[in-house]
Amino acid sequence: MLQELPQALAANIQSAARLLTAPARICILTGAGISAESGIPTFRDKQTGLWEQYRAEDLANPAAFARDPQLVWSWYQWRRQLVHNKQPNPAHLALADWQDYAAQHNQSISLITQNVDDLHEQAGSTAAHLHGHLWRNRCSHCGISYEDKSRDFNADKDVSEDDSNFSTDLITCQHCDNYIRPDIVWFGEALPTGAWQHAEDAAANCDVFISIGTSSLVYPAAGLAQLAQQNGAKIIEINPNPTPNTIVDITLADKAGVVMPHLVQQIKET
Ligand code: APR
Repeated sequence: MLQELPQALAANIQSAARLLTAPARICILTGAGISAESGIPTFRDKQTGLWEQYRAEDLANPAAFARDPQLVWSWYQWRRQLVHNKQPNPAHLALADWQDYAAQHNQSISLITQNVDDLHEQAGSTAAHLHGHLWRNRCSHCGISYEDKSRDFNADKDVSEDDSNFSTDLITCQHCDNYIRPDIVWFGEALPTGAWQHAEDAAANCDVFISIGTSSLVYPAAGLAQLAQQNGAKIIEINPNPTPNTIVDITLADKAGVVMPHLVQQIKET
């Protein structure tokens, strides 16, 4: 199977698989790149259509919501429309398969994601979400969760939904009458304490840290690789493009959907 890949990539996958066969603790950080092959644009991709003139950073922040809640809410409803029928790709599926396999072979894999989609969960993985959940909402003032039964994060999604379920009408909180917002960590906001604590523990105590599909630009998540390395872990990066991450031991420079199935297969065969 590896023969179908460029020689250098195949050799690097074999080296990575050797590194990943023995260790007990593996920490994996995923970013938007792992969902790119499912058809979800990454954050650094230029936005399309109606939203072409906006940068994601200028909409995903509390000041933008305070200034123009309608604009920010409409953007998220558009993103939900874009994401609602997307399926896990071979990278998500290989990862979930590996988590199962690892559990039976005395390995633990902590999966941390910056993604707000639920494609890891759809694939069967458990992941700690550092940046929140696209399918959850909460009050922008009192913080109480707003349950939209049709879009419950854990409910089965009805992929036949049409645009009308993604109305751009603002919703107000039943308790304090302020606007409901997506339960997503915006630029300048603190990460959820539990998820961050878990991520720090997993990174600081792992033998190998794998960064998949992240530009490594947004902190504090981008600092997890450094934390792992300072504590003696080896670092593997899976990304078709170079990143500012300079502490990588093995780079697997191709799409996650290409690399992950081969990597997991090699781990099982090594
Ligand atoms: N496989 C692997 N990596 C890929 C693929 C692919 N098929 N396609 C693109 N990439 C890489 C890109 O080269 C890039 O380095 O994925 C990365 C995506 O980078 P970003 O868009 O910056 O996504 P991410 O790192 O997850 O962003 C971090 O920034 O906007 C905030 O909160 C948002 O969680 C997000 C955070």
